[in-house]
Amino acid sequence: MLTVRTLGALRAALAGFRADRARVALVPTMGALHAGHMALVAAAREPGTRVVASIFVNPRQFGPDEDLGRYPRREAEDAAMLAAAECDLLWAPTVEAMYPAGFATGVTVGGGLTDVLDGAARAGHFDGVATVVAKLFAQVGPTHAYFGEKDWQQLAVVRRMAVDLDMGVEVVGVPTVREADGLALSSRNIYLGADERRRAVAMPRALAAAALAIGNGGDVEGALGEARDALAGAGFVVDYVELVDAATLGQAEPGRPRRLLAAARMGGTRLIDNLPVK
Ligand code: PAF
Repeated sequence: MLTVRTLGALRAALAGFRADRARVALVPTMGALHAGHMALVAAAREPGTRVVASIFVNPRQFGPDEDLGRYPRREAEDAAMLAAAECDLLWAPTVEAMYPAGFATGVTVGGGLTDVLDGAARAGHFDGVATVVAKLFAQVGPTHAYFGEKDWQQLAVVRRMAVDLDMGVEVVGVPTVREADGLALSSRNIYLGADERRRAVAMPRALAAAALAIGNGGDVEGALGEARDALAGAGFVVDYVELVDAATLGQAEPGRPRRLLAAARMGGTRLIDNLPVK
């Protein structure tokens, strides 16, 4: 697997793929790869397709008080994992290559998708995500791009952007990969101390209980309240536990797909997770 760090080298590699008449699939990541990312690569691997993974810790999607400085960076291990998963190309630009001096453009997705949930809790976060993903789509020119369902709101935002801007990229969501006890895999899980990790299982458990209760016709506010209490009882500081329309992230309506989303802090670590509600 070749690693490229400049746009010129990326374009040369992509020209080779096009000469082979291959389709290009993109797996955008920020590195610190785990089995959840490998599921994205596995989903992207189709006959006649070349898989491009990107690793770029995008400063524009971190707030001033967030973990940009300590976000895990381990490109050598990541590259070995991608090569073993038969990824064809790693695009690992520097910050200067992605945002050269004078960079002055941003992508904002509206429509109620970015001012709720994580968008309300993390000002500017989804502008940063949309801007870098738009750039990655323009740089790589994929037919398909793969994103984890763990970041459900991000998936909705990217889908909207790809449609609205006629990007011609099919955005594919891949189910969340979980630890044996149910905790969703996340690059940020390594921040958890042993006791915090043990208590973090309250997140998938609280969501599963609320999703079941609501799916069985139980009182929505009661179930959300119980989930918040269960998280707080385990030592989380809760940002939100909400039931929303799965596509618009607006008010959940009967007869349309619904999604239960949560974000909460365990010590210095912010975890998110979500489940469908039947
Ligand atoms: O999900 C992530 O890792 C990032 O938000 C993404 C999509 C790679 C954009 O930086």
